[in-house]
Amino acid sequence: MVQFKASHAFNLLERNHLAFQLTPISVRELLFITDLPCDVYGLENDTFKIVLKRRSYINKEVIKGLIQKGQHELYLAHSERESLIQYQQDNLRKVTRSLSVGDPLEKGKKVLNLLTINMEYLYRDPTNDETLSLQYQSAKNLSSFLAANIDLHEPLYKSYIQMKHHFVFSQPLLSSIFLLGVLKMSHLFNAKDVENLFITSYFKDIGMSAIPTEKYDQIELDDEEKKLLSRHASHSVNILQGRLTLGPQYLTIIENHHSFSLLAKELDYFSKSSKQGEVVAGFETILVCVMDVIAAMISGRPFRPASNLFDALELVKILMSEQYPQEFKIIVTYFKNFFFRK
Ligand SMILES: [Fe+2]
Repeated sequence: MVQFKASHAFNLLERNHLAFQLTPISVRELLFITDLPCDVYGLENDTFKIVLKRRSYINKEVIKGLIQKGQHELYLAHSERESLIQYQQDNLRKVTRSLSVGDPLEKGKKVLNLLTINMEYLYRDPTNDETLSLQYQSAKNLSSFLAANIDLHEPLYKSYIQMKHHFVFSQPLLSSIFLLGVLKMSHLFNAKDVENLFITSYFKDIGMSAIPTEKYDQIELDDEEKKLLSRHASHSVNILQGRLTLGPQYLTIIENHHSFSLLAKELDYFSKSSKQGEVVAGFETILVCVMDVIAAMISGRPFRPASNLFDALELVKILMSEQYPQEFKIIVTYFKNFFFRK
């Protein structure tokens, strides 16, 4: 018994000592790794143990195995954190440059997941020019790829939502994929407009990086966090201004992407994003905004279940059908085709 206590105490000590040097990572961050650049730790009986050795080859089976053993929480040494970031950013760089080579569906899946991993790096370090420029270039290439492969949107969407990335990082991508599909279907926008609007939509929430991701899982944010969140649109503009090749009209869209009080209420926390009637938004802003609303409503959150598509479309109808009846019909047709085409 004494021996057990001693060893337990030692384990706790060891755990606490190591805990100072370890940093948590998500299991998804191990996707697409063929030569692990660092040891990965998990917790077993209150003790940190190496669960994946440096130089490991990691495939889906390895990741499944970890999840089955209950190893959801993984850790790296602080000193090696950067090596995994560099590895996954190189991965993203390579896949972004070779999107037209190989099986387009597999390439598409890979780029969506790697972009989402890098989005997390970017939100954790939004002033990092290298991370931002990689994300920007990759999103631009993805935009051309998606515009040329409309038939892949649905299988890509299905596979992507199964990965269950944190919604803070998946929401901008999902809303931007929907946006691109509607823009293409409308035939109202040229290729450059489509790309710029895709980028605008994808980066519009980067100001949410002001709050740690874990906080978004709570039902209620505290007053200070709510205030930060309500300012995320202008914070996004501050982060992006002068750093992306986007015209001022696109930054205006970002600034106003929660301008409608009714829309704002339907989103998760954005109830005070602007004063009612303050902003007269252009059609592009409304489109970016309603795609965001639909993507958010039809996805579940830790604090609420998903709504169905028809409820989301019903809300969008109230918002835009009077002013833009034809465009609203395009949106309805797009989503019906997307989810119910046989
Ligand atoms: Fe937003």
